[in-house]
Formats: sequence, C-alpha cells, structure tokens
Amino acid sequence: MSKEQEYSPLMAEDGETEPSLSSPQRKGIVARCTSKLTRGVLGVIIAIETIALIVALVTLSTKRHRPTCFVTPTPQQVLYSPALDAIEHEVRVYNVGFTGDLSPFQIPSSVKLDQMWSDLYNFGISRITKEEAAQLPNKTHAIPGDPGHYIAELDVFHNLHCLNKVRMALDPDYYPEWRISTTNNWIEEQKNATEHVHHCIDWIRQSIMCAADTSVIVWQWKNWANASLVQGNVAHTCRKFDKIQDWAKDRMLLKTFDPTVRIEDDIVVPIFHSDMS
Ligand SMILES: *[C@@H]1O[C@H](CO)[C@@H](O)[C@H](O)[C@H]1NC(C)=O
Ligand SMILES: *[C@@H]1O[C@H](CO)[C@@H](O)[C@H](O)[C@H]1NC(C)=O
Ligand SMILES: *[C@@H]1O[C@H](CO)[C@@H](O)[C@H](O)[C@H]1NC(C)=O
Repeated sequence: MSKEQEYSPLMAEDGETEPSLSSPQRKGIVARCTSKLTRGVLGVIIAIETIALIVALVTLSTKRHRPTCFVTPTPQQVLYSPALDAIEHEVRVYNVGFTGDLSPFQIPSSVKLDQMWSDLYNFGISRITKEEAAQLPNKTHAIPGDPGHYIAELDVFHNLHCLNKVRMALDPDYYPEWRISTTNNWIEEQKNATEHVHHCIDWIRQSIMCAADTSVIVWQWKNWANASLVQGNVAHTCRKFDKIQDWAKDRMLLKTFDPTVRIEDDIVVPIFHSDMS
C-alpha cells in the first residue's frame, strides 16, 4: 500500500483541503450566476470566470503539492492498534488510597500481592495476525514456527509491569533483587535493578503525559474541617480494562518465542513525523 493510498482519506477529514472545483456546490453557484445575466455581458463574464478558474486551479494545485499534506497523518489521528475494537468506556471513581478508601492493592508485600499484580499483565505478550501487523505504525517480528503470526504487546501491560518493578524496589527487604543504588551508593550488583527502575519511572512519566487524563479533581466544603478540601473520589472516563485484558488473554502467546530466528517479510511501515525530541 502506498503512502498516498493510505493517507489521502485523512485529507477529507482534517478540514484543511479546499473542496474541488468540480464539487456540486460550486457548479450550482456558477449555473445560478450565468442564468441571470444578459447575453451582452456574458462574454466578459466568461472571460473573467476563465481567469478566475485558472487562478483557482493554480492555487489548488500549489496546495496539493505541499508534501506534508499528503504524507503526514494529522496529529488527531489515532494510530492503529489491533486492540482498537476492544476499547469501551466506563465511568470509574478511583480509590483515594488513604485510610478509609484503600484499594485491594494496598496490602503488605506478599505472595498474594505478587499474584494480584501478576494477574494484571502476565498474559501481555500477544500473537497477532499478519494483516494486523501490517497496519501497525512500527514493524514487528514474525513468530518462528507459527506462520502468519506476529509478536506484539499492548503498552498498558508493559506499563503495569514497570509500575510493579517500582513497587518492588520500594520494598527491598522483601524483594532484595530489586534493591537499587542511589547516586551516592553505587553497587555493581544493583546496576540492573537500578537501570530497570529508572527506565520504568521515566516510561510511566511519559505514558501519563501521553494519556493526559483531563478528568477534574474538585474542592468541596467540609464542615468538620471548616474548610474546602480537595476531593479525590471523582468520576473518570476510563477504558474498560477488563475488555483490554480479555483481548490479550484471547491472543496470548503461549509458545516460547525464539528471538534468534530471523524471518523476512514484505511488510512496509509508513513514516511518521514525531513531535517528541
Ligand atoms: C543484568 O542482567 C543481564 C540479563 O538478565 C545479565 O546478563 C547481567 O549479568 C546482569 N548484570 C548484573 C550486574 O547483574
Ligand atoms: C470556621 O471559621 C470561621 C472563620 O475563621 C470562624 O469564624 C468559625 O468560628 C469557624 N467555625 C468552626 C465550627 O470552627
Ligand atoms: C516507530 O515509528 C516511529 C514513527 O514513525 C519512529 O519514530 C520510531 O523510530 C519507530 N521505532 C521503531 C522501533 O521502529
């Protein structure tokens, strides 16, 4: 699929392209104008219209040749994900997380807590079809021994994995392998964990900024405090996480993925211009 074929429909949606000269509306305007005119001035009008038409065509063709117009998707475009169809929304009120409104995850480090975290994402490596892989904004690799299928992971599951590692690093007495070095306390055995946790914190930062939740936290008057206090238990529009989980569980990669087997394919991904620097 060429870039033009892939992106040209966007131009109709982004409101920046002019309607074409042959659009029905313009034909109608021209027809109405000419019918009201006498034959004497018709020749002059036709000449003026011809010039206007040429000017319009030149203007339009200049716009059409702006290269960014046809190759770059608009920033409003939601990039393809094979899980787009699994997205449904619901209103959720978060646990505030202080005494009186704790979440089930606010228990001490334990086998039970590890299992709860694991249940959030440990099916996160997925097996998608070639047709789905071909629509991704980035190229992914075929699964050796599984013709027509490709490996993929929805980032939400990587995010959760990362947050779990940060949590573990905060309790190094329970998770000694996740004890990290501070800048003043560099211990070689802690290098992996330290780098991993730093990667995770910054990944989660970028993910939070990427999603930029615009739900509104409010202040309400509390007689007991004789003051207006910030309230965390507000309504959020959320993607239904269980639907995304179901999507991944249905496509979970069960076989061992051998990353040392190279498989060539004919998938060509588009080039996107990123604002990130
Ligand atoms: C870090 O992890 C990698 C891969 O798991 C391992 O090969 C390496 O020895 C580890 N390094 C340290 C300092 O533990
Ligand atoms: C609340 O604050 C106001 C203004 O500071 C004060 O006049 C009032 O007595 C306080 N009420 C209570 C119940 O503390
Ligand atoms: C993924 O696509 C983006 C946008 O085109 C590009 O900037 C980035 O380098 C690509 N990454 C990989 C791993 O292909």
